[in-house]
Amino acid sequence: MTDSTKTSRISGFHKLSISDRLARVTEFAGLDSDVVAQLSNLGNLDGELADRLIENVIGTMSIPVGIATNMKIDGQDVLIPMATEESSVVAAVCNAGRQCYDDGGFITSMSGTLMIAQIQLVDVTNPASSRISILERKDEIKDICDACDPILVSLGGGLRDVEVRLLETAEGTMVITHLIVDTRDAMGANAVNSMAEKLAPHIEAWTGGRVYLRILSNLADKRLARARATWSCEAIGGPDVRDGIISAYEFAAADPYRAATHNKGIMNGISAVVLATGNDTRAVEAGAHAFAAQKGWYTSLTDWEVTAEGDLSGSIELPMAVGLIGGATKLHPTARACLKILGVSTADQLARMIAAVGLAQNFSALKALATTGVQKGHMSLHSQNIAMMAGAVGDEIDQISKILVEKGQVRLDVAQEELKKLRG
Ligand code: MEV
Repeated sequence: MTDSTKTSRISGFHKLSISDRLARVTEFAGLDSDVVAQLSNLGNLDGELADRLIENVIGTMSIPVGIATNMKIDGQDVLIPMATEESSVVAAVCNAGRQCYDDGGFITSMSGTLMIAQIQLVDVTNPASSRISILERKDEIKDICDACDPILVSLGGGLRDVEVRLLETAEGTMVITHLIVDTRDAMGANAVNSMAEKLAPHIEAWTGGRVYLRILSNLADKRLARARATWSCEAIGGPDVRDGIISAYEFAAADPYRAATHNKGIMNGISAVVLATGNDTRAVEAGAHAFAAQKGWYTSLTDWEVTAEGDLSGSIELPMAVGLIGGATKLHPTARACLKILGVSTADQLARMIAAVGLAQNFSALKALATTGVQKGHMSLHSQNIAMMAGAVGDEIDQISKILVEKGQVRLDVAQEELKKLRG
């Protein structure tokens, strides 16, 4: 039912304080005092900072940060902070790390820290020669772009290359300029967007065309993070398990319906570290899925093979646009703490660790799926959530959760009934 007395047209909402905004929302939505108290508790994020990070803030939302143990990456033991609301994600990485630890853990590498900015040029009468006339000005383009960010240049970054593509569209041929920029330890969105905006009028002047969009591409395929690891056949439970994992992978490699779920599992791990470090989860996710479709069909982000010794070898390669400076990475105190735990000093190191986590996640998901299924593990954690939803507190949570798992009925109604019995 609609309530015609309510209006979402709240002029000047952005100018109010957090508590005044919350008061307006309380009135609008008829919130109870316990809900207001919940929203008023800003946890470990300072209100002033929250209010500067996004617009119209009324509260914050805490997500658990768990530590993935057992991870050895490039010969170093690391503890990996992961921010996620999903049960089993952290445990999956711990398990995968444990099972390849004695075989050396994860080996990682990176193609570089190059980001791409796109400039869309339309209404060009002679697209082919316009393309060439942009390309022949590479030195001038470099001067214009590098002048936008002298700090980046002083840190060894800046424009590296220019590519120009002719794109056939329903509106005719567009001339798309790609600025290839080394953004070093920054994710680089601001740097490359500024360069694209600065260069746009020059491109118009050189070609007589009209520029519309000037924005980075999240398909950061010149910033690929790679990881690989070997799991001995014995450590993972024998050839049947190994072959089950290979078969699960071949399924994902051949079928986009399965690949979407397979890659979602990978992103469970990846996004959790990206979030914990204050990086842009949507940028990394968009890049990963676009990269997974680069062959012309949507497929697996990982590859799984059997080695000459009969062991299981896994590898992953995907765009990883993450940084250590700028935005929430630098400002959010929990993100800073997570980076400290990781002990990384470059964006390259962080990106490589995240790729290793994605591979670890995929190993555990495929192993579970090819053997016992995921529900057993999921359900024991999920049962605790159900117990809490039923009202269980303290020791009751474990007791009710145990009963639900034993009964094989992880359901709210059963939890409520069992809680009633437990309390006599
Ligand atoms: C669930 O969040 C992730 C999985 O579905 C991944 C997969 O199927 O590979 C278990």
